[in-house]
Amino acid sequence: MKRIVLAYSGGLDTSVAIKWLQERHGYEVIALAVDVGEAKDLDAIVDKAVRIGAVHAEIVDARDDLAENYVVPALKANALYEGKYPLSSALSRPLISKLLVETAESMGAEAVAHGCTGKGNDQVRFDTSIAALNPDLKVVAPVREWPMSREDAVDYARQHGISVPVGRENPFSIDENLWGRSIECGVLEDPWIEAPEEAYLWTVAPEDAPARPEYLEIHFERGIPTHLDGEPMETTKLVETVNGIAGRHGVGRIDHVENRLVGIKSREIYEAPAATVLIAAHRDMESFTLPRELGHFKAAMEAKYSELTYYGLWYSPLKQALDAFVDKSQENVTGSVRVKLFRGSCQVVGRKSAYSMYNRSLATYGADDSFDHQAAEGFINYWRLPTVVYAEAQRSEAGDSCGGAAID
Ligand code: ARG
Repeated sequence: MKRIVLAYSGGLDTSVAIKWLQERHGYEVIALAVDVGEAKDLDAIVDKAVRIGAVHAEIVDARDDLAENYVVPALKANALYEGKYPLSSALSRPLISKLLVETAESMGAEAVAHGCTGKGNDQVRFDTSIAALNPDLKVVAPVREWPMSREDAVDYARQHGISVPVGRENPFSIDENLWGRSIECGVLEDPWIEAPEEAYLWTVAPEDAPARPEYLEIHFERGIPTHLDGEPMETTKLVETVNGIAGRHGVGRIDHVENRLVGIKSREIYEAPAATVLIAAHRDMESFTLPRELGHFKAAMEAKYSELTYYGLWYSPLKQALDAFVDKSQENVTGSVRVKLFRGSCQVVGRKSAYSMYNRSLATYGADDSFDHQAAEGFINYWRLPTVVYAEAQRSEAGDSCGGAAID
């Protein structure tokens, strides 16, 4: 019998998908539950997959893989889609795709499946990442092909003995991993309405945050956060810890009407406390240690890097080439940054580094100033020379009806 590996979340759609892939496509289904840092009971999820009819189900703890190989490169690139969204959902897709491909190859499956709809970015990311890693694998997206409404899916589930969560339905569509939580649908579809408190889980409202600020010291080694308040920490734990602390101060709420790859604008709410803090701190360490030209060039490149990630091109040659550039740029991004968290704000208030390019004797206005003030005049003479020549040419052109600058 032909086999397929399904990225399984335990939710209604991927549960129905197990049966659908068996009935409509004649597949033997292998369910893969990937732990990317959601607080879920994965053992129960795997049991459910087998109960529904999966021939095999397994859990992969991919939190460290996500942190080290997806979040860290994105952090080094200060990746924010449209300057706002830290790409949390977008980063997990290429990772889950990689695990689907590896599982399909080791289990002799000819296809893989995911539970994305035909309207979002995630389907593009899965289909494109899977093709980049193994173009021979077929990709099936049941939710994209079936004609079912939510009510139909519930009926289909009941008919097939699939348990449907009872009680009040979650009014939002949520995707989360350690880099952030994405919330959409329901009342959020009206972009004028402020997101209700119930949309948020990781952050308190800034107005309810403690009245006293809290400081965090983040140490980076070549662009990678390695210590929190002086204590060495693996990336996963560091990100989780900062999520907890910054979330308590109401830091990391993002309200974004974004341009989806499929051409529509959608309103999404994000909670990304650690991403907000770490990107702010990392940016600051870069401005402290990078030469001006490198810093400015890198900032321009970051928008492209973020776009490629959002568009599902994580495994593309351009993205890999940019990673090489980013890694090279991080050679001196080593040092500590102090941030102050207070009622929704995260402010960098101090930094130090052995690679600092800040030179106090050059910067000071005090008595120990070593900057050569007189030399500035000569520098400016040549710096402004094209400006002077251009202004003169404009003036003589105005007085010369034939056009062009006057020639001696
Ligand atoms: N808009 C985000 C993206 O495309 C999040 C997608 C998943 N969001 C969700 N609530 N299911 O990356």
